[in-house]
Amino acid sequence: MFEKSVYENRRKRLKEKVKSGVILIMGNVDVPMNYPANIYHFRQDSSFLYFFGLDQQGLIGVIDVDNDKDYIFGNDVSLDGIIWMGPQPLISERAEKAGVKNTAPYNSAFDFIKKAQDAKRKVHYLPQYRAENKLNLEKLLGIKVDDQPKNVSVELIKAVVDLRSVKEQVEIAELEKVMETAYEMHTTAMKMTKPGIYEREVSGVLEGIALSKGGMLSFPIILTVNGETLHNHYHGNLMKEGQLLLIDAGAESEMHYASDHSRTLPVSGKFTKKQKDIYNIVLSSQLKAIDAIKPGITYKSIHLLAAEEIVNGLKDLDLMKGDPKEAVNKGAHALFMPHGLGHMMGLDVHDMEDIGENHVGYDDEIKRAEQFGTAFLRLGRKLQTGFVLTVEPGIYFIPALLDKWEKEGLHKEHINYENVRKYLGFGGVRIEDDILVTDDGCRALGQPIPKTVEEIEEIMGSK
Ligand code: GLY
Ligand code: MN
Repeated sequence: MFEKSVYENRRKRLKEKVKSGVILIMGNVDVPMNYPANIYHFRQDSSFLYFFGLDQQGLIGVIDVDNDKDYIFGNDVSLDGIIWMGPQPLISERAEKAGVKNTAPYNSAFDFIKKAQDAKRKVHYLPQYRAENKLNLEKLLGIKVDDQPKNVSVELIKAVVDLRSVKEQVEIAELEKVMETAYEMHTTAMKMTKPGIYEREVSGVLEGIALSKGGMLSFPIILTVNGETLHNHYHGNLMKEGQLLLIDAGAESEMHYASDHSRTLPVSGKFTKKQKDIYNIVLSSQLKAIDAIKPGITYKSIHLLAAEEIVNGLKDLDLMKGDPKEAVNKGAHALFMPHGLGHMMGLDVHDMEDIGENHVGYDDEIKRAEQFGTAFLRLGRKLQTGFVLTVEPGIYFIPALLDKWEKEGLHKEHINYENVRKYLGFGGVRIEDDILVTDDGCRALGQPIPKTVEEIEEIMGSK
């Protein structure tokens, strides 16, 4: 945990923003995997971690704005619990570490909330993503699960997004720590990858590295010779000479701050000319985007800039044609990059996605596009110092998408379908780094992970 003043200060700022009522922050509970006592690895809710820091099951955090009091509701461990799980600190001892003086058993939360409702005070809550907490909220507030989304507190969502979007120095230091794990994961993959081994042999080692550093994965590893499938979690292919291996993998620090990097490797250790050409277009798009990041610029404009660079490169290879700006405006580039350039990152790898992607990535000024491709951009709004985000352009040759667009004759003035067909089976390339927006621009977090063709070939040759 951070110093307790960090949590005290966050709750104080939250109260200032929300102004009145009672704020309910649901901690997570254990979730069964295949029978009740066999549970998934516990992951605390990120907003709960942000405001209370306690990485423990079965807690409810309440911030009484009107009376300037904070509460943790949770049960002290029973004798049975001690027998199976060992001695545990009291809830009051844990809460003290987060600067919370008021604690009470879990069920007292029900009385507390009921009293607040009876007194016609507003109870603010965030969108819920776990079945257990939806049911708990139904019991706490008397709001049916199906009615919960329309009753969420937009004031609370906006306040949480404001606070969590701008990373504090202590958070940046924590992110820098997890970047060391990220470096080890990706460079290990580079040293291991070779023809004749299974994808899972590499993904298993990467997951082991994340665990061995005291954290966990920040999302299930994407490691695949079929990189054209954007979120491919199948790891059962035997890697062969001539293939590309797309790895999109990240870890969490012990305190759950995320990393998220993508690298694309030639399985053989050496890129072919065709692979190198596509790879360098993606790299140039990524570098150009990073170069343009600074406070005050919209991330949507950075996304469009990266897309334009991809069109420029694909034109040189005779895969696209016409004016690059026009092609991007019409959305023709999305045949090759049907996803957004990146997303916010912090306590979640897609930071705060649970409480509303449009609140996190968009505002009154910058609205989400409706066009295929750019519509999937998770972050479009103006950047501020302290934002942490990913920059992850890619080029993919997706047979189903190509078939559909060609059949419908989409963007014929910008796409040389006949030439693109020759790339079927190529797979995909994605390159991703984690970027901190600074007063005068930005910087990549962590030690640079090999990224140029030469750097990758060199480290792969070193196995
Ligand atoms: N790293 C996976 C994603 O950003 O969606
Ligand atoms: Mn990402």
